[in-house]
Amino acid sequence: MPGSETDAGHHVVLVGMMGSGKTSVGEALARRLGRDVADTDHLVELATKKTVRAVFAEHGEAEFRRLEGVLLHHALRTAEPGVIGCGGGVVTQAGNRAMLAASDAVVVWLRARPETLVARLEGAGDRPLLDGDPEAAIRRLAGERAPWYAEVADVTVDVDDRGVDEIVDEIVDRTGEAVAR
Ligand code: S3P
Repeated sequence: MPGSETDAGHHVVLVGMMGSGKTSVGEALARRLGRDVADTDHLVELATKKTVRAVFAEHGEAEFRRLEGVLLHHALRTAEPGVIGCGGGVVTQAGNRAMLAASDAVVVWLRARPETLVARLEGAGDRPLLDGDPEAAIRRLAGERAPWYAEVADVTVDVDDRGVDEIVDEIVDRTGEAVAR
């Protein structure tokens, strides 16, 4: 994380599992900081004019990951500092992890217990990776990915049993001058 007090105005990148609250926290954080918010899933949908589910179904996960990486790269290169929400699988790609490490963005992991994710994602039909047995998929993916989230994160925020405003307060407190503008 960029640290010095003069080093202000970096992108804030939110990573974490599906259901960890990246979209709602990202929107609230952007409002708080007076910034724009971007979201890699939304960027993929704009670029392809298809839903995430349709991109998975018609082009496969590998192509989705390629597009996601390209669009994250573009978002990180935007001059005006913003808030960037990443799809939960961004960290599965070594190239994306390297990109985040090389950037001067502040990366925040919204960490949730699997039980929290399971409860929040109940009935959410828009995640192709959760087709079949969503609870098993969430537990497996959360376990596999935890080391990657930890690797890219400058700051880890536990989100279980907490509201959006409280989470935003913690992010603002802990990222401090690097994002204050
Ligand atoms: C995915 C997470 C989704 C979306 C796609 C794959 C994943 O984004 O990118 O369904 O691999 O975890 P959210 O984390 O915003 O739900």
